[in-house]
Amino acid sequence: MPRIYFDNAATSPINEVALQALVEQARDIGNPSSLHSYGREARRSVEEARERIALLAECEPSEVIFTGSGTEANNLAIKGIYWHRLSENKKRKIIITSAFEHHAILDPIRWLAESEGAEIIEVPVDDSGYLKLDYLETALENRGSEVALISIMHSNNEVGTIQPILEVVRLANKYEIPVHSDAIQSFGKIPLSFSELGLFAMTISAHKLGGPIGVGALILKKGFDVTPLLHGGGQERDIRSGTINAPAIVAFSLAAQAAHRNREKNSIHVSALRESLLDTIKNDIPDAVLNGGPGERLPGILNVRFPNTESDSLLLLFDSEGIACSTGSACTAGVQQASHVLMAMGLSESEARSSLRFSLSPENSKSDIDYFHTCLKRVIERARAAYRSSA
Ligand SMILES: Cc1ncc(COP(=O)(O)O)c(C=O)c1O
Repeated sequence: MPRIYFDNAATSPINEVALQALVEQARDIGNPSSLHSYGREARRSVEEARERIALLAECEPSEVIFTGSGTEANNLAIKGIYWHRLSENKKRKIIITSAFEHHAILDPIRWLAESEGAEIIEVPVDDSGYLKLDYLETALENRGSEVALISIMHSNNEVGTIQPILEVVRLANKYEIPVHSDAIQSFGKIPLSFSELGLFAMTISAHKLGGPIGVGALILKKGFDVTPLLHGGGQERDIRSGTINAPAIVAFSLAAQAAHRNREKNSIHVSALRESLLDTIKNDIPDAVLNGGPGERLPGILNVRFPNTESDSLLLLFDSEGIACSTGSACTAGVQQASHVLMAMGLSESEARSSLRFSLSPENSKSDIDYFHTCLKRVIERARAAYRSSA
């Protein structure tokens, strides 16, 4: 039986060049903070990697702060900016975000609300999966002077819609509010420029674009302070203490470089596969419904609702045919919850519970779609039979 991987938004296969660099760099001794020649060599590799990332993200090398994951970078952005802004002005207790962020944004914000008295304004999204800018505009008109920060994702990891970050920044600038964006799903897949967007902070992560798991970065505007979460050796501009993970950082930068070099080609390939997957689904399952869009979107994410099914059983039935997909964000996949993203877009709980995400990468091919086609009707029929018998 073939094994087909349609869960690249959860994590994607490591790029060969990145893997080699990871292994080679791991063999070299040397803490990048040590002053001897071993340390200086490791430091040189890290600084070259920082320059590579900066070139790709269109920021300055000194603005790149490496972290141990995208989740850590998001926590640093949310808590670090909040605490810093509050230390300057006690009235700024509001955090504005959207209703359909990843849990790595929503949960630190909710934690700040529960334990530190922050107030949350969640900007709704429309039923296509795009931020309601007019709601944000009104919220800022009413409460702009009390806002500590705004955090809105660049693109959504479940439905793939690209958010109007330039507009968010334009509105925020009127009130001098820093904007952070979780750009984890966008980096390396679509054009993304930190400086052009005018952001204060932006999160990226290695394992969504062919780098290793366990390394990410917060890009933080020069001259802008945040309160550190980790205290220790003062690495990464005193913002993120902890021995610098040179092998993972070098591998991250090389994977990002490869993703950027091939971005247009990959985007054309992956978009065509996504279209073909969608056509296959529409033809075989006429009542299937596309979640998200039709505006600007990532090339590789497809989210579909299959009425009268239960997504957990669908996922397992596809898995038994060798096809890996997802019911939503991998971080919550172990928990039996309907997707908060789909419900924020207005789907009922049962509609959200009958939806699946297929996320493609350049490694997928037309033969994957052909194989999927041979299984699709059978899987849906079985899922519907199981659904009927449980009703
Ligand atoms: C939009 C988004 N933010 C944050 C994360 C978490 O990133 P990491 O796995 O690097 O901690 C993910 C990964 O699922 C994601 O898709």
